[in-house]
Amino acid sequence: MRRYLSEKYVVGQGVEIGALQNPLWTSERATVRYVDRLSVADLRVHYPELKDFNLVNVDIIDDGESLTSIGDGQLDFIIANHMLEHTENPLGTIRNHLRKIRPGGILYYAVPDKRFTFDIDRPITSFRHLVWDDRKGPHLSRLEHFYDWGRLVNKVTDPDELEAHVKWLMEINYSIHFHVWDFKTFSRFIKQAKNYLDYFFEIKHLEQYGSEVIVILEKRSKRQKVRLLSGFWVLASRISGTKQRLIPGGIDGRQPRADLGTVPARHRVKT
Ligand SMILES: C[S@@+](CC[C@H](N)C(=O)[O-])C[C@H]1O[C@@H](n2cnc3c(N)ncnc32)[C@H](O)[C@@H]1O
Repeated sequence: MRRYLSEKYVVGQGVEIGALQNPLWTSERATVRYVDRLSVADLRVHYPELKDFNLVNVDIIDDGESLTSIGDGQLDFIIANHMLEHTENPLGTIRNHLRKIRPGGILYYAVPDKRFTFDIDRPITSFRHLVWDDRKGPHLSRLEHFYDWGRLVNKVTDPDELEAHVKWLMEINYSIHFHVWDFKTFSRFIKQAKNYLDYFFEIKHLEQYGSEVIVILEKRSKRQKVRLLSGFWVLASRISGTKQRLIPGGIDGRQPRADLGTVPARHRVKT
């Protein structure tokens, strides 16, 4: 599935964030640079369990949440598989990624479904929490996430041991899953993000595939957003106009709004 979607959508010049040992296959129509928050040498230290795997050569060391080393509108695509759940501010990350791609550009994300991973015992992250992280800053919930990870993933139960464990995880800045979704809640999150973020995008593909959820987003320009919205309003006003003509006295038996145009404003009855 990853490969099929890559063939279909990943075209042009772009980046993959956090490819690690498992870069997305891409066709010859795509040129990819690899971004990670750590160098390969540091990734080797961070993930000793991957000692027998080849790691992708990191071209750009940068925080994939902000991608400050890349200019706005410079990319045709961004791939981030199993990276969004590691971000402290997923809404801010998607906003930044949308800024970095051109209109028509693609965001290709996969996230694990908690039901099939070590996150199984962790609570689903609510959209309200993500908005809080975005508005107030994710540092406020940082500690709580590390405790969650220590207790519910690493199963440390003794309070003193847990405290020491969390301290150590934070000292080495361990890349925990800050946020947790399953298919249903991730799908809802993407739809809510669409309303919440200033940037406009279309969901081209959203699917559960095995233990992960894959989503493909296509950025739309502001002009396309305005055109689409005005198209929507024209359609809506045509439909409501038709209803007003069909229903005597207008919708809900009230005077059709169109007639209000002839009544001076101070005499209009508020509807
Ligand atoms: C679980 S691995 C994903 C491996 C692979 N993409 C896959 O699909 O299996 C997460 C990767 O994202 C990177 N990563 C996590 N947070 C990051 C951030 N804020 N900026 C850049 N890379 C990040 C990690 O260093 C790691 O390489």
